[in-house]
Amino acid sequence: MLELKDIQKSFGEVQVLNGINLRLEKGLVYTLKGGNGSDKTTLINIISGFLEPTKGIVELKGKKIARFAPYRVNRLGIGRTFQDLRLATQMTVYENILLALEKKLFANPSKEQQKRADEILYPK
Ligand SMILES: Nc1ncnc2c1ncn2[C@@H]1O[C@H](COP(=O)(O)OP(=O)(O)O)[C@@H](O)[C@H]1O
Ligand SMILES: [Mg+2]
Repeated sequence: MLELKDIQKSFGEVQVLNGINLRLEKGLVYTLKGGNGSDKTTLINIISGFLEPTKGIVELKGKKIARFAPYRVNRLGIGRTFQDLRLATQMTVYENILLALEKKLFANPSKEQQKRADEILYPK
């Protein structure tokens, strides 16, 4: 379960998030919608560790994760995509998939991960 408690965010003088409280249950799909500039990306950035909230708590399964680096948030189970795709363009498609599975840049992929990458690249 992911919980947000009184999340606030300011950029300088400008306050964009003003006390967000949310409880997201495991196994359910949620949609965050709103017009351009309605703070959606800012909230996603805070949940995924790309931005620190000015105030407030992000809790994943009871563990406070606000202010963790993005890679730590990711290893705890929160993945994200970007509006503008961020692929490692100097790597092959296969290597990009392995990177997403491994969550590490420099590692020898296990047989299991290679098999999973093959399944993703060449679905039956
Ligand atoms: N790094 C930043 N510095 C200053 N203002 C920002 C920054 N990022 C976002 N904002 C402002 O925060 C508001 C929400 O932006 P954003 O979260 O990107 O909206 P959305 O994703 O809903 O379109 C906008 O007014 C935007 O200009
Ligand atoms: Mg956005």
